[in-house]
Amino acid sequence: SSSEAILSESHGADLLSKLPSREGWSEPLVLYNNYWIRPRIAATIMRLQSSFRPRHDDIILASNPKCGTTWMKALAFVITNRSRYDIENNHPLLSCHPHEVVPFIEIPLNGDMNYVETLPSPRLLATHMPLSLFPKSLAASSCCRIVYVCRHPKDAFVSRWHFENKICRGNNIDLENAFSMFSEGFSAYGPFWEHCLEYWRESTTSPDKVLFLKYEDLMSEPVKYVKRLAAFLGVPFSTKEEEDGIPEEVVRLCSFDKLSTLHTNQTGDMVRRANLIIENSAFFRKGKVGDWVNHMSEEMGRKLDCIVEEKLKGSGLVL
Ligand code: A3P
Repeated sequence: SSSEAILSESHGADLLSKLPSREGWSEPLVLYNNYWIRPRIAATIMRLQSSFRPRHDDIILASNPKCGTTWMKALAFVITNRSRYDIENNHPLLSCHPHEVVPFIEIPLNGDMNYVETLPSPRLLATHMPLSLFPKSLAASSCCRIVYVCRHPKDAFVSRWHFENKICRGNNIDLENAFSMFSEGFSAYGPFWEHCLEYWRESTTSPDKVLFLKYEDLMSEPVKYVKRLAAFLGVPFSTKEEEDGIPEEVVRLCSFDKLSTLHTNQTGDMVRRANLIIENSAFFRKGKVGDWVNHMSEEMGRKLDCIVEEKLKGSGLVL
């Protein structure tokens, strides 16, 4: 198929110019293999098709943007490193943003694209890539584990709108316009629901490979899901650890209240590339379930609910 041809090619720039393009919320997006992607990221994903070398013990944290990526990075990092770092004392998360300790595969950290190659095993990596755009080597790797975090689309949309407004300083993105684009499936890494569905289906057919979590569940029963996460990642809490309240300590250290008030997360910033510097604080806004009501009309809410319900029909996934 033509999409396979695109995936197997390595001449990113040429291919990029051939993809359908459309002006998005704040910049154009290209339609790559049925997903709307920022051109720069699409080029990187094309390059990764041939260059990414998965390792058998990689752990991949996947998500749509604004669905709890930062939180999941913190949780997975603390859980998998708890024999190295004392949770109560001098923990790296007290001085580093979660995005610094768990890099994205397709987004350079401080401009360095090869950083993920230099990490020791086992690697903890993150991605917003849809499952169907994974480098073939990674998709074929039967060993790596994937944790997907999903969120109610209304909250994810509102969170995204705030974030984009914040990072494109002075560029006021019209909410109604952004909403109608989002509802059509036109947003970075969208359609939102297709992204969720791909991982959902994989989690139902290969539950040992993909753990599918929801932001709202994590919020209402954090300890329960932190235990499930640890077990999935192959480092379950021992009875002694549970008696000692370690899962609760993990939850506390990674909580919105704790992370959002740390000096480093309030004042630092991260360089994504030369002309894109994001304040660390941009990743911590409210951290609440249901904040959409403060920004969207009830009618908009109903409309998006209907669209999403229709798209997810028959899948068993309810958002
Ligand atoms: P809001 O804008 O609704 O507050 P991502 O990490 O995928 O970019 O998503 C960001 C969203 O997660 C923001 O949502 C942010 O406030 C929230 N968030 C960040 N850290 C969190 C944490 N530790 N616990 C709960 N929510 C968190």
